[in-house]
Amino acid sequence: MAGIFCDNNNMKRLFESYKDYFRFGAAVSGIILLNDTEKAELYEKIMTRYADFKKNFKPTPEVPEFNYPEPEPFPKGRMPDYELAANQFNLVVAENDCKMGKIYKAEDTFDFTGPDRLLKFAKENNQDMRWHTLIWHQQTPKWIFEDGKGGKASKEQLEERLKHYIMTVGARYKDDICSVDVVNECISDKNYGLRDGNEHSQWFDIIGPEYIDKAFIWAKEAFPKSSLVINDYNLEMFEGKRQGMYKLVKGMLERGIPVDTVGIQMHINIENPPVSEIEKTIELYGSLGLNVIVTEMEISAYVDKDFEHPDPRREYDKAFLDLQAERYAEIFECFKKEARAGILKDVLLWGITDRMSWKNNFPVQGRTDAPLLFDGEGKPKPAFEKLCKD
Ligand code: XIL
Repeated sequence: MAGIFCDNNNMKRLFESYKDYFRFGAAVSGIILLNDTEKAELYEKIMTRYADFKKNFKPTPEVPEFNYPEPEPFPKGRMPDYELAANQFNLVVAENDCKMGKIYKAEDTFDFTGPDRLLKFAKENNQDMRWHTLIWHQQTPKWIFEDGKGGKASKEQLEERLKHYIMTVGARYKDDICSVDVVNECISDKNYGLRDGNEHSQWFDIIGPEYIDKAFIWAKEAFPKSSLVINDYNLEMFEGKRQGMYKLVKGMLERGIPVDTVGIQMHINIENPPVSEIEKTIELYGSLGLNVIVTEMEISAYVDKDFEHPDPRREYDKAFLDLQAERYAEIFECFKKEARAGILKDVLLWGITDRMSWKNNFPVQGRTDAPLLFDGEGKPKPAFEKLCKD
């Protein structure tokens, strides 16, 4: 059935244009898989948050007055993202539904509603599915770091819970998941070593640096056929962070830890980084014999040199859309080259339509952005045309 907002069934398919190079995937928001009642409930929650945000708004020189548009209700029936996710990609990943906080509810209580829904969708549409993410310092249940008596969990307790989680997820999904983000965002932005409690990692604080090696060893047991990924942001943006990850994975390989892929998130923007840096990043990890996948790409309209003083909202005019298309196209040329070199295996965008992008609320709540290949109604943007044609 075609969506009410667009009929994408006759549109050329993105993944077909790249099938000789890499799988082309997208993060699927759980929202698009909800029914109308569930969507209405979620919209209520969003409106409450918006009202709080408006109430607490403090003017800054960059944003002197509140000018954030009110979120619109989700369309009834199938959303454009649903049709596009089904037709344009041959790989999917859950934007939020496979994170530990959504699944690991208590010591022996797991909720697999979200992953099951996406897996069903992937199977119906003949797509591969990847898992994001077994371990992260965010979207993790609070109880896991507690001992149940008002104190912190012990190292043994936390390790046992983590192993139980990884094994349980693997037992259910090992035959259906092609690659797994085992550890997400573990490199420090401050010293490029491992993120610790000062940057919100209780995994590091309670278990110590070996939580990473242990997680990969358990993940190998739990998902023997999947590729095992270490994933992070700004690797393509900053030399220091890139080298921090290099040092970490080199050490892991020397210790015989079964990591086989580095995931570079690529939440980049219209100016930065230059393509040459992206190329350097992919080749650096490739030089260790590792594969690389691009896990969460989008091209934001905002450069935001400093998150404390973000850019003001701008218009997404033709000049911007054409520039964005050029930038997508030159980066995908680089991807093709790295795929031919045998390093790059998958490319995934972090979302489908601009309307649903997380960038509408990050780093500035409600600023809106236009970072993806389809506009808010699901119509292809110049970047889509460019990628399909090339
Ligand atoms: C983001 C989701 O897109 C949002 O919906 C959610 O509110 C927060 O998380 N790096 C990651 C992803 O590894 O899991 C994040 O996803 C974006 C940054």
